[in-house]
This record gives sequence, C-alpha cells and structure tokens, in this order.
Amino acid sequence: MKTILSCTFTKGMTRALQLTAALLFLMPAALFGNAAVPPSPTAVVAGKSGTILFVAEKTAGTIAQVDLSSGAVLNRIPLPQPPSALALSPDEKILYAAGADPEGALFIIHEPFTEVTETFRIGHTPESICISPDGTRAYVACRFNDDIAVVDTAEKTVLSRINAVREPVAAALTPDGSLLFVANLIPKGSSDGDYAAARISIIDTMLQETAAEVFLLNGSSSLRGICVSPDGNYVYVSHILARYHLPTTQLERGWMNTNALSILSVAEKKLINTVLLDDVDAGASNPWGLSCTPDGKCLVVTHAGTHEISVIDRDKLHAKLGSLSDKEGSDTPNNLSFLVDLRTRIKLPGNGPRALWLSDDTAVIANYFSGSIACVPLHKSGTPEIREILLTDGAQTLTEERKGEINFHDAALCFQQWQSCVSCHPDARVDGLNWDLLNDGIGNPKNTRSMLLSHQTPPVMSLGVRAKAEVAVRAGIKFIQFAVRPEEDAEAIDAYLKALTPVPSPRLEKGALSPSAQRGEILFKQAHCAECHPAPLYTDLKLHTLGTTRGMDEGKSVDTPTLIEVWRTAPYLHDGRAATLHELFTIHNSGDRHGKTSSLNEEELADLISYVESL
Ligand code: HEC
Ligand code: HEC
Repeated sequence: MKTILSCTFTKGMTRALQLTAALLFLMPAALFGNAAVPPSPTAVVAGKSGTILFVAEKTAGTIAQVDLSSGAVLNRIPLPQPPSALALSPDEKILYAAGADPEGALFIIHEPFTEVTETFRIGHTPESICISPDGTRAYVACRFNDDIAVVDTAEKTVLSRINAVREPVAAALTPDGSLLFVANLIPKGSSDGDYAAARISIIDTMLQETAAEVFLLNGSSSLRGICVSPDGNYVYVSHILARYHLPTTQLERGWMNTNALSILSVAEKKLINTVLLDDVDAGASNPWGLSCTPDGKCLVVTHAGTHEISVIDRDKLHAKLGSLSDKEGSDTPNNLSFLVDLRTRIKLPGNGPRALWLSDDTAVIANYFSGSIACVPLHKSGTPEIREILLTDGAQTLTEERKGEINFHDAALCFQQWQSCVSCHPDARVDGLNWDLLNDGIGNPKNTRSMLLSHQTPPVMSLGVRAKAEVAVRAGIKFIQFAVRPEEDAEAIDAYLKALTPVPSPRLEKGALSPSAQRGEILFKQAHCAECHPAPLYTDLKLHTLGTTRGMDEGKSVDTPTLIEVWRTAPYLHDGRAATLHELFTIHNSGDRHGKTSSLNEEELADLISYVESL
C-alpha cells in the first residue's frame, strides 16, 4: 500500500494533500488519525536501525508507530494525557512517554508497543525525558515545577527532584551519563536592567545536584532545543537572540529578533560562542529542535517559523570557531554571514517543524501543524528529494482557532521572516524581556505581556494605549512584523487567543488552595487587592496611578493586569522591575499605594503570595 508521497520542496503541501486524498480509498481507515483532530506531532524517536519511528501526537493524545520505509502507520497507542516527550531504553525494548498535564505522568510501554503497561505521576507538564546509558534512570524535565524528576526506572519511583531555573523544556545527557544539560525556556529575574537571558542548568547526575549554570548572551530567550555531540565534547542550544534594548523601529538585519545557536564546552562548562542562523535578508525564525547525526558530521536545526531545516557541517563549524581572533569571536553573535559555506537551509513540505530524529544520512522531522513527517536525505547535493508521510487521512480540518495558532507561529506574517508572534510571546505568554514598542512613544520599554485573557480584559498594553486586543493584534502584524496581511489572518489570531485557557498553578494542592493560600485569600481582601483585582478576571479593567511609573512615563496611569496565571509571568510591573512578588510588595510598594502591604509580617506576605500565585 502506498502511503508515502515523494515531493521536492518546490511542490507545496497542498499538492501533497491532494495526492493523499486521491489515495485515501486505498487506506485501511483505522490506522489513520481522524482528520478532524489535528495530530500535532511534538516528539519523535526511533531505534538505531531507524526502521520504526514513534511519534507523540499531542492534540490527538496518541503515540503513532510509523514504518519509516513504507510510511505506514502500524498502530496507535492512546494515552490519557497529551504526550509531550518520548524516549527509548538503551535496549530499545521500553518506550517512555510523558503527558503534558498538571498531573503529568510518565507512561511505560513495553515491546511490542501496543499499550501502556505502567503509569505514574511525575510532575506538572513534563516536556523532556532522558534515559541514562545503563537504562536505570530517567531524567524528566517538569516544566511548571521548574525542576527535573530523577526516576528509578526499575522501581518506578521518583528518587529526587533537582531544581532547574525556569520552565525547563528540553534536556540532554552526555554519552557517559554523568552530566545533564537543561534548557530553561525563558530568563528569570527583573528585565529593566542591562542584562536578561535564559540559562542552561548543568546537573551532576551522580551527586544529583546542579554543578553549574551557564548564562547565555544578553537577550537569549525561547530556548527550545538542546543536544550533546556524540563525542561528548560540545552542547548545542537553539534559541532566540533578542535585541530587546533597541527600539522596535525596523526589522532589517535582525534588528529585533535574531535566531541563534549557542555552543558550550562540556569540559569547561561554559559558553564558547553564539552563532546566528539567519541570513542577511532572510530570518530563520523560531529555531526549535536540534540534534547531531550519530556519526557527528552534521548538526540539524528545525526552524518552526520558516518551515525549514538548517544542516550544519560540524567539522567546518568548529574549525571556523577555532580560527577566530578575539575580535572576530566577539563579533560572531552579530555576524549574519557566519554560517555561509558551512550550512544548508532546506525548505520543508509542511508547517511547523519542531521535533526531529537523525540517522547518519537522513533527517526525520515532525511538522507540528501540518501533521506530517518529512524525511530529508542529508549529504545530497542539489535539491533533496523529500519524502512526506501524512499522519492523517487527507487534509486536516482546521478550525478558526487552529488557523490562528498557525498564524501566530508563522514567520510568513513578518517582513523577511525575522520573527513570528511567538518569538516574543512563547506559548502566547511572555518572554521575560522588555521591549520598546512604538505605540506609547520611544524610550519607555515595557515587559512583554501574556495573551491569556487579553481579549477579555480591555484596554490592552500597559498604558492602555490600545482600546482592545483586536486592535493590538492588527497593530502587531503591521508595526512589529511590518507585514500587510488579509483581515482574516488577524481574525483567526483573535479566535486562537480568545480560546486560550489558564494552566492550573503548580502552587495548587490537588487542584485546591493550600492552607497558606487560603489564609492569603483573606489577606487579599483585607489589603484592598480585591478592589482593583476583583474575581473572576482579577482586574477592574481600569487604569490607576500607583506611583510605579518612571522616566517619560512618570505620573501616567497603568492598566490593571489580570492576576490569572501570574505565577508564570514574572518579572512584574509594566517595566519588569520586580523579579518576584515578594519584591513587588516590599521594595516596590512604597507608601502602600499598591494595596496595603507594609503592615504584613513575613508569614502573612508569604500567605498572600501563595494565594496570588495560585490564581
Ligand atoms: C518584539 C516582541 C513582540 C512581538 C514580535 C510581538 N509582540 Fe505582542 N507584545 C509585546 C510587548 C512588549 C507587549 C506589551 C506592551 C505594553 O505593555 O505596552 C505586547 C503586547 C501585546 C498584546 C496586548 C496584551 C495585553 O493584554 O495588554 C497583544 C494582543 C499582542 N501583543 C499581540 C501580538 C501579536 C498578535 C503578535 C504577532 C503579530 C505580537 N504581539 C508580536 C512584544 C511583542
Ligand atoms: C488601586 C488599584 C490596585 C490595588 C489596590 C492593587 N492593585 Fe495590583 N495592580 C494594579 C495596577 C494598575 C497594576 C499594574 C502596575 C504596573 O505595572 O506598574 C497592578 C499590578 C499587580 C501585579 C503585577 C502583575 C504583573 O503581571 O506585572 C500583581 C501581582 C498585583 N498587582 C497584585 C496585587 C495585590 C496582591 C494587591 C493587594 C496587596 C494589589 N495588587 C492591589 C492595581 C491595583
């Protein structure tokens, strides 16, 4: 049965989808995903022989087993939670899957991989699993616990939890299993200073503690992929390098956001350099997954915003990095031609490439939005013949919300594809940085705001300069992305953003307020918080003058933000000056203009914060 479509990158997905539709009547229906529910492949893994690929289908809630040579979906394992990460045991007999859920579980699936054999709770939204070389430990990054759960795979217990920094979403082990490198999604700390960047946590697996933290270059955010070279000498991280200190007046030459690859030395536990993945006049937006071929020759990065991959020659990369003078080395993070001659950009059929799996000669890439797998031959000169395997039977049925989600992530909505909305609003939330948008003047940067409830809580923007979110969405396309797009693109984004739902706080205990948060709930009323932050939206939809504004905004009033999900939107205040809620209610609330907090003792303050962080 023919289920594979051959197409070069010049033919689009539409043609591929038409072909599949034509082949549809030949297919055994049960093996295909229901086109009404997009599969959203988010993780892939295969054994060394590369014959069978396991695909975590996040929206569909299934793991598909795909025969890579025929492209046939052999079976689907349903999971009770949306699968977010996969890993195989070293003997390839056990498949581990994690469920992206507040009560996220680790699912154990034994050969022949037809059903879940064991399940146990691991943490809030696990997004990455690494298995030790001897198979006895699993290290699971629990995104909203901000930690790594160390699992005894034989006993099926969590042995310990090791703190990461903030929202660990990807991790990689050295080949000897001694060090775990963890990518924290966004920066932690106040954002009104000269430096703000996300960090890499390095965990010593023997001691089960953090051995070091590597600070990436200023503006590093949205860390999505991390891998260790097969020789164990280098770590590579894909991320955005934001030029957040410049006013957002233009996009040319990566003025706002560039897309980058950082290279770390394992032996020295430090950053070697950061290179740009963009070209002078063409951004390579939203670098996501990355991996090395087993022979160590190539490094492949997926670009989720431009639907491409970069194939980088590792020998040439390190030869060039090693040959740089100090001056050239320090200029490298600004050099948009650094990768010329050592990297190939390959356009994929499909939309939203994220996860990937590599053999020495093929890159297998999961396209999140088009629900397809692309197989790209490496080391072929000229235009590669790319095979596409569709995970659904025919074209997906796209709801208005899904179209909006696609637009929000698509750098085609941006001049020269430098960025997408998600470049500054990861998961439609915050990047932890300040940006000097032009809608309220130049020289008054604002901390990025979350999109959650933005449409339900007008006006928007810190100074309320936009009457409602619909206006901000259109202004974003026009004045941040410098693109002219049909109105329907913006309408779909509205639909996507309106449909966002809050993620339950990791501070909740079994879904309810902790005793401390219950005491805090009373203080919330006593300290007058509820007057401006009334339930259910926790905002009065008004502007207030709290004395928090400075510089050219001095004396201006500020929009009351919703407090829902405030546990994940640090730093706080319109200019991100408060790193924590504790700082907000102590050093940044002089004269009790922002609720009456001066009379609270430390314990009461902790209770109030527990409550606010539970919303
Ligand atoms: C360069 C970074 C950046 C990019 C790219 C970006 N935004 Fe924003 N966005 C911000 C910042 C910063 C704020 C907060 C500004 C303020 O408070 O004055 C914001 C605020 C918003 C708000 C208002 C939130 C509220 O409730 O106050 C909306 C809506 C929004 N952005 C939508 C979008 C859309 C849609 C896109 C893509 C077309 C986009 N943004 C791209 C940085 C960005
Ligand atoms: C007079 C109205 C008012 C009162 C009373 C008030 N707030 Fe606010 N709150 C605001 C405004 C306005 C802002 C935005 C201030 C800024 O960004 O400069 C804000 C910001 C916040 C933020 C930061 C949100 C973010 O994303 O940056 C938190 C948290 C918060 N308030 C909690 C509280 C608590 C807890 C109390 C009681 C101790 C309280 N507020 C009392 C109006 C008020």
